[in-house]
Amino acid sequence: LFSGVPTAPVDPILGVSMAYKQDTSPQKVDISVGAYRDGDGKPYVLKCVFEAEKRLLGAPKEYLPIDGIPEFNKLSAKLLYGDAMNGKEKRMVTVQTLSGTGALRIGVIFIRKYLPAGTTVYISRPSWANHHNICKESGVPSAEYTYYDPQTKGLNFQGMMNDIKNAPSGSVFVLHLCAHNPTGVDPTPEQWNQIAQLMKEKRHIPFMDCAYQGYASGDLDRDAYSARLFLNSGFEMFSAQSFSKNFGLYGERTGALTIVTHNEKYIPAMLSQLKMDIRAMYSSPPTHGARLVQTVLSDPQLTKLWVDELKVMSGRIKDVRKKLMDAIVQRKVPGTWNHIVDQIGMFTYTGLNPQQVEILVKKYHIYLLASGRVSLAGLNDNNINYVADAIADAVAS
Ligand code: LMR
Repeated sequence: LFSGVPTAPVDPILGVSMAYKQDTSPQKVDISVGAYRDGDGKPYVLKCVFEAEKRLLGAPKEYLPIDGIPEFNKLSAKLLYGDAMNGKEKRMVTVQTLSGTGALRIGVIFIRKYLPAGTTVYISRPSWANHHNICKESGVPSAEYTYYDPQTKGLNFQGMMNDIKNAPSGSVFVLHLCAHNPTGVDPTPEQWNQIAQLMKEKRHIPFMDCAYQGYASGDLDRDAYSARLFLNSGFEMFSAQSFSKNFGLYGERTGALTIVTHNEKYIPAMLSQLKMDIRAMYSSPPTHGARLVQTVLSDPQLTKLWVDELKVMSGRIKDVRKKLMDAIVQRKVPGTWNHIVDQIGMFTYTGLNPQQVEILVKKYHIYLLASGRVSLAGLNDNNINYVADAIADAVAS
């Protein structure tokens, strides 16, 4: 019966982290998956989350509504859109989702069902690999738009603008709110303004992927600039929020999908369809993570503690960037390495090629993505020199 089932390719991100787990070398280093580690290389439970967990001890384990906790949904939208909401909440529908992936998936299915047939979802080149899977598995056509310039290791702004211009009107553009994954390269506010203007002319639809709010600059409002700009510019738009990284709730699968429409009269029908899809897929979302986020965001003291912790986490990563760059430069490794400090967020897109990555993995047991993406959170004072030595060897080979 099942003899014809072909083996699927290993996931380019989670597959690498699995390989790391199986490696028995004492020197092994995991800089693959985007998950925060403290200065000792340990996973970190945020203090605000710990405090919220104490308060939630013994909370009921009943089913949630299909669309999740109403207060969590409101707080999530407010966190992202802030002052730009300004009465627009009537034209927004938010549902609690299984983190960012769940939000993207529900949103993309909505696009397939209710946007004109053939609407294409444009994904940056490169992007988080799962964007492509989500579109493919949801039966939605996808294409790529220019984003990264390997020469400058920065943004190919003109190429991006050309692709926005040449895409059929009414296309969906997946845009990373901030701290672009995998490149760590974001448009400047002025470039965002130009992107929004052109997208408006083309009647494109932004789909903001918001996995790193608070991780780019350590400032929640600053990091939300692009989403607020699009909302203020009058777009109908989608946003997928993940609370995996900024609350450290990776395994709790906590997130939200918000859709903004022009007319509040469409909201009840839109919500009814979102609920129908959720019910058919997994009935209702899990309780714990959403209650934690709700508890933190509805208590000013816990919110302050959270913001302080975000500054510590994003600050440590900035520190690591500088140390990695200095260690590579000290070893006189050919090439320019300032992009490591110029890029922002959890990752650096090193520019190492697949052969060099293979040397790091096979010879040094250092696990990073084949694209050369390094999750900086996995680096600390105990392994940074070892990684810099290995990079020097790989580049020289
Ligand atoms: C990553 O890019 O490493 C994270 O977003 C984890 C994931 O699910 O891929």
